[in-house]
Amino acid sequence: MEWDTNPCAPGASHLPLPASIDKIMLLGDTHGNERWTCWLIDQAYEAGVDGILQLGDFGYWPRNEWGKSFLKWVEQTLAEHDLPLWFIDGNHEDHDCLKSTVSQPGPLALTDHITYLPRGTRWQWGNRTWIAIGGATSVDRHYRTEGVNWFPGEFMTQEQQDSIIAAGHADIVVAHDAPWGVRFLANHYKLWVPPAERGGWPADTLLDSDSHMRKMAALALALRPSVWFHGHHHIKYDEYGTALEPGTCPMDIHGLNCDGFTPDKSALIVDGKGAIIPWAATSPIGDVSS
Ligand SMILES: [Fe+2]
Ligand SMILES: [Fe+2]
Repeated sequence: MEWDTNPCAPGASHLPLPASIDKIMLLGDTHGNERWTCWLIDQAYEAGVDGILQLGDFGYWPRNEWGKSFLKWVEQTLAEHDLPLWFIDGNHEDHDCLKSTVSQPGPLALTDHITYLPRGTRWQWGNRTWIAIGGATSVDRHYRTEGVNWFPGEFMTQEQQDSIIAAGHADIVVAHDAPWGVRFLANHYKLWVPPAERGGWPADTLLDSDSHMRKMAALALALRPSVWFHGHHHIKYDEYGTALEPGTCPMDIHGLNCDGFTPDKSALIVDGKGAIIPWAATSPIGDVSS
């Protein structure tokens, strides 16, 4: 990786995803956690997957030393196993860097084995259309510095939202954020309580978080996917048959936890149709929850 030639994207080139896969690992927020992420890549290899699809807050910080180190070790571990990793953007990434390397949807290889899937990127696996929907809001933004470790580009723009909707139906969504209207998250956060009375994070950041989730709901209602996978909320749950509004198409929603947790909390193995393959059926070490 030649960081000196382009500090944001040393080896950027357009590279299509494989035409089909048997099984992949969906991976929650890795947050630039080098040691844990490389261990998870080893687990993915042992499970015999064709690749890893990471759901944002990957930790793309190529302009600082620890960010470079993370990318170097992840790239090296992927290379050892000859595994590709595709990631969507979360909120905690260097969005100025990502924005400087890409202006439209489509897979963009950043290193030999790490590929960024910009918002709105679509692809086919079998007869299913998948779509990447990155972005979310940082409830901790008041503790961050704009242009250094926080970027307004984390929030999905109206233009991005409109162009995703204009492209029509998709079967499977891989997103960083969850749509508003998920029963589990409403109960988890008490989303019926006004942000100013919810406690925890500042009210304005919670308001923005609600607003971004409502954007995700608008996308879900327009795209009518059958399943929505996401990270960001750092909690593992599965909710089946969720209709975001009465009379609308139901979908299954799966949230993943983040770095530091066992693979059964922070990863899922799925096939090209987005159907979940139980860990016990795929991992030679069987139960990975302990
Ligand atoms: Fe996030
Ligand atoms: Fe996160």
